[in-house]
Amino acid sequence: MTMKVIKTVAEMREWTLSRKKAGRQVGLVPTMGFLHEGHLSLIRRAKQESDAVVVSIYVNPTQFAPGEDLDRYPRDFKRDQQLCLQEGVDAVFYPDEMYAPDHKTYVVTEELSKILCGVSRPDHFRGVTTIVAKLFNSVQPDTAVFGQKDAQQALIIKRMAADLNFGINIIISPIIRENDGLAVSSRNKYLTPEQRQQAAVLYRSLRAAEQEYEQGNVDPVSIKNKMKEIISEQPLAKIDYIALVNADTLTRPKPGTNDVLAALAVFFDKTRLIDNTILKKRR
Ligand code: PAF
Repeated sequence: MTMKVIKTVAEMREWTLSRKKAGRQVGLVPTMGFLHEGHLSLIRRAKQESDAVVVSIYVNPTQFAPGEDLDRYPRDFKRDQQLCLQEGVDAVFYPDEMYAPDHKTYVVTEELSKILCGVSRPDHFRGVTTIVAKLFNSVQPDTAVFGQKDAQQALIIKRMAADLNFGINIIISPIIRENDGLAVSSRNKYLTPEQRQQAAVLYRSLRAAEQEYEQGNVDPVSIKNKMKEIISEQPLAKIDYIALVNADTLTRPKPGTNDVLAALAVFFDKTRLIDNTILKKRR
């Protein structure tokens, strides 16, 4: 089977149009490359949901603040290409640049983009929604698949797709974890062996939150304190935030809220890791 590497928006649109004319459903998996098991699970999901799968690979500068890791973000297109081929991807959209030098337009999802990760990364989600809107307009897929690991991003993209009438089915696929529970992420590569070992504490704290909730403790403050206590046992871990919010709105959970999202961001030196779980009450 051949896999096409497409570099321009015009060619990308043409490719999708020809697939749609042939009655095929097109699925998109947007990525910043350096593919790992998490991305592969998104690709597999896209394959289940559509007849032709496009993976986009573009390290989007507008979602990085000055001083963040844009320059050192890991890149390996040859390896990504090989993985996509193995997974039976139909086309890789690999543009050199997505922004004209005189680019002036941004897409902002109000409120949702200013809380949780938006506090320490104020322009991050503006960059994400802008590039995802541009990718949607370039690829014009029927379906797009994103990971639950970026729970806030997933919710914001769903909101944006609905608000701007993209008519694209947004699918959110579960978190993939390493053996010790650490969520798979491109940024795990930055961790030293000692940091990597201590990073498993993120999942342990989320598991503790799940257990508290299952046992009937629905008090967000006491659950957050428990999580903080567990994370603080690891000397290299510096908590950015721990939050318990309504999983659909990211607002404060009211008594009786069904699904509560426990989300956190933790620094290991300059590396910021995020993770989350949905807390479900015992029925
Ligand atoms: O989740 C990511 O990898 C990125 O935020 C995305 C959605 C590809 C936009 O650059």
